[in-house]
Amino acid sequence: MEVVLGGVPLFSALDAEGAAALRASMQEVRFGKGDVVFSEGDDGDRLYVVSDGKIKLGHAASDGRETLLAVMGPGDMFGELSLFDPGPRTATATALTDTVLLGLHHQALRPWLTGRPEVAEALLQALAQRVRRVNDNLSELVFSDVPGRVAKALLDLGEKFGESRADGLFVEHDLTQEELAQLVGASRETVNKALADFVARGWIRLESRSVTITDLERLQRRAR
Ligand code: CMP
Repeated sequence: MEVVLGGVPLFSALDAEGAAALRASMQEVRFGKGDVVFSEGDDGDRLYVVSDGKIKLGHAASDGRETLLAVMGPGDMFGELSLFDPGPRTATATALTDTVLLGLHHQALRPWLTGRPEVAEALLQALAQRVRRVNDNLSELVFSDVPGRVAKALLDLGEKFGESRADGLFVEHDLTQEELAQLVGASRETVNKALADFVARGWIRLESRSVTITDLERLQRRAR
């Protein structure tokens, strides 16, 4: 079994034999950078686990403005909401890089949920963790200023995609500044200003679609 699957809630509850059987019912699908995996409002019939690459989950407000709900990387799962609550997709999934996904048809997952309570429990735990994260983001949106939210977003991306290097934490997030602004819930101009301020203070270094966090402690303090 691929290394990445070990940390996926669906698999972590299973023994090697169960995990191999579940893996056998998944299909590998590949997407190029910019490809749309599914769109908000589509009928959902499968969930996905990211095997390689990154996926952004975007949500359009009624006035057409886009927000980013999350960026998914290797080991992350998405597309399960329309299984538990049958209905249209709640977000649009777009590949930020060339991406390999493992798709699991909702019908193929059902027997696992009823026959192996530990799989259902692991999925409930993953959902509960998502609710916690959404709550955190919501209170930040209400109580933190834009620089604080930008700092927190960079730290979250760093936790997920960061790579320790001699000069700091290198974070290849693959987001444009517009997408970073959509993730933070602010205008591109305000987010750019916050980023420029962090650069001037020596907390981060900006590169195209990546950032190096050079002063983790100060950035953490700003995020609080
Ligand atoms: P589904 O509605 O089937 O398709 C879109 C998916 O995006 C959804 O399932 C979830 O897996 C995922 N998703 C929706 N909202 C969030 C969120 N706030 N944080 C992380 N993932 C989400």
